[in-house]
Amino acid sequence: MDDEGGKGWSDSHRAAWRMPAYIPAMISRRGFVGGLAAGLAWARDLAALERTRGMADSQERWRIVRSEFLIPGDRIYLNVGTLGAQPRAIVDAVVEHTRRVAESYPPAVPWDELKQRLGALLHADAAGFVFPRNTTEGMNFVANGLELEAGDEILTTDHEHIGGLCCWQLAARRRQLVLRQLALPPSPAEPEAVADLFRRAVGTRTRVVSISHVNFTNGLIMPVREIASMCRQRGIVCVIDGAHPPGMMRFDLSAIAPDFYASSPHKWLLAPQGTGFLWMAEEWRTKLWPTIASGGWDDLSLGAHRFNHLGTIDESRLAGLLAALQFHETVGADAIEARIRELRRRILDGLTAIPSVHIMSPQDDSQGAGMVAFRMDSRDALEVQERLSQIQAPDGSAFAGRQLYIRTRVVSEYDLGWMRLSPHIYNSEEEIDTVVSILADETRRR
Ligand SMILES: Cc1ncc(COP(=O)(O)O)c(C=O)c1O
Repeated sequence: MDDEGGKGWSDSHRAAWRMPAYIPAMISRRGFVGGLAAGLAWARDLAALERTRGMADSQERWRIVRSEFLIPGDRIYLNVGTLGAQPRAIVDAVVEHTRRVAESYPPAVPWDELKQRLGALLHADAAGFVFPRNTTEGMNFVANGLELEAGDEILTTDHEHIGGLCCWQLAARRRQLVLRQLALPPSPAEPEAVADLFRRAVGTRTRVVSISHVNFTNGLIMPVREIASMCRQRGIVCVIDGAHPPGMMRFDLSAIAPDFYASSPHKWLLAPQGTGFLWMAEEWRTKLWPTIASGGWDDLSLGAHRFNHLGTIDESRLAGLLAALQFHETVGADAIEARIRELRRRILDGLTAIPSVHIMSPQDDSQGAGMVAFRMDSRDALEVQERLSQIQAPDGSAFAGRQLYIRTRVVSEYDLGWMRLSPHIYNSEEEIDTVVSILADETRRR
């Protein structure tokens, strides 16, 4: 976002450029229909998917969806919890935008459309969106931008990811704040019990409660609505690390109504890597201090958009985010969530049947989302992960006789030593069954 000629940094000055027809089409409000007319690859990719909507045969539908991904057939990718695998449409959107810039046309991401599509997905006021590179950056914008004084308390949990925790550690050390990490119950607890834990823990010096919406450790859905409501009643700032839910499960951000919500659409929304967002409630759009100051940083009439002037950035990733939102709409938010739940359930059922495996994630779908974490008796999770990264498929499995490359995640944080599997719509039942069968074999090894 360069301030070319000092004319300001909104979309408007770009209209002065003579753009080829395909650029407005690429970013048309009509979505990929405009892109199709302009012969753009990413729009053609989405049109292919559009035809699968409402297909009666769900197996066939997911097979076609899988064919839109670039994952080779011998790789089983079960780590969207770290980074999503992008489908062809999103890769093409990034490449096409990058090429336009290389051809010397100005970057052309329509901020308003991006905010509106994201707002529609999350039921959030579109004016509240800022686009940092990821959750980590969004959380740092918040921790760095709040006015906090020595002795003020930040309350968080012992299941936070470094991306949502370190910003508070830094603020605490620099400004002599108190950072308190509440211990969550060892096995997933009832949402009301967790909310109660927070109600009892907040004190007169608590200024901020910072929690994950879905814990990265075990996929537990935190009672964010109850906790945010308690914070509102007590004048405490509620900050949610929402790295996981967007793209994984539907929710209503306006009903949760936190002060801040940071996320990484490069996870479950399958957006390009380095694509984040931070949503802020109305009062903060004029009150929060920007961490990065450039033109307009103190122009309060810009609201949250004043946080979007980050110097020159890679706008192709935002073109990719726009395509990711349209990909999500095309496949369907309901269908995606249902498929992720179905695959999660298959993993849970398969692993529960292995005697020496202990599930650390909630069994109940209302409490657990996307990810399944487990502990193995007498097997080190990192060692098993290493073996899975290149392993012969078992006889009798759908991949029999083939070498497989399986990507998992080990939650070593907080000395947990759990293995975590996170499936998405590109995974198949055969992949899940094969991984479960390999894990069963692994647990029998000494
Ligand atoms: C809960 C949670 N918060 C924050 C992050 C950091 O995300 P990013 O690296 O995209 O900033 C992660 C990454 O896995 C996460 O799981």
